[in-house]
Amino acid sequence: MFRIDRHLTTDDLDKALRSDVAEGLTAVPKRLPPKWFYDERGSALFEDITALPEYYPTRAERAILESRADAIAEAADAEALIELGSGSGVKTRLLLEAMGRHGALTRFVPVDVSGEFLASSARRVADDHPDLDVHAVVGDFEEHLGLLPLPGEGRQLLAVLGSTIGNQEPGPRAAFLRRIRAVLRPGDSLLLGADLVKDPARLIAAYDDAQGVTADFNRNVLRVINQRLGADFDPAAFEHVARWDAEAEWIEMRLRSRTDQRVRITDLDLEVDFGAGEEMRTEISAKFRRQPLTEELDAAGFDLTHWWTDPEEDFALTLASAR
Ligand code: AVJ
Repeated sequence: MFRIDRHLTTDDLDKALRSDVAEGLTAVPKRLPPKWFYDERGSALFEDITALPEYYPTRAERAILESRADAIAEAADAEALIELGSGSGVKTRLLLEAMGRHGALTRFVPVDVSGEFLASSARRVADDHPDLDVHAVVGDFEEHLGLLPLPGEGRQLLAVLGSTIGNQEPGPRAAFLRRIRAVLRPGDSLLLGADLVKDPARLIAAYDDAQGVTADFNRNVLRVINQRLGADFDPAAFEHVARWDAEAEWIEMRLRSRTDQRVRITDLDLEVDFGAGEEMRTEISAKFRRQPLTEELDAAGFDLTHWWTDPEEDFALTLASAR
């Protein structure tokens, strides 16, 4: 069984892109939100990143899931799996299969902003699991969590994998966790993937790989703005920067203008000047520690019940129970 609800039209996305770009490029310092990396090319570049020798998070999380999927299924004992930001689906399958073996699973609700990607991967899951009610939702999980097709009863497991929560600063992240809590009932579970604080050299390498794939991914946001808003960014005129903010404990990706330059964004009727060396933030990727994350979950109404890591303790998969 397969169906898909669309809460985001291309028109909605266009409006959001316009306002993000107008605000971000006129702010001081300039900034762009990471969600616009992921057009088709950007999503493919991210898939390439996950296979890079320097980018350990995807492999570490998959290894944890491979050994813990059955324990997760047993602890969550859920009839529905809701997945926010479902990616390529390899990890989802491990979870679905374990939940299937455990016995209670009847519904899968994958949620993503990228409609095409979501439709094809969700349809594949439905084909492989004929008894499963697959109900995909194209939506922004900042906005549309209240509209999810959740069963009126039965336990739920909501998964946010890949350290996706690391893209948000602490304030918005706390609000996001509370919104997640609000769609769950007491006893429901949250499965959260969190990349951990480690040697800064390894963190920086993971976001500034030798082949330059991450640099291309970072510059892709400029191509997206060129294509969708008629801008004339020269991506080659911006240098990829990845730095570790030791105080905030996050990686910051930036684009640094190589020269003094003026960019025209035709559809916004906007001209923007960049000075040589000027840096624009394009993403943060926060790294976590056990105690503070436990407290963040607690503040959102969750009790942490399980903390699993890979042997190197690079990445944590946490299971928390809604109070
Ligand atoms: C998909 C947001 C988890 O922050 O590690 C990878 C995105 N950016 N390399 C991350 C990303 C640069 C990734 N997330």
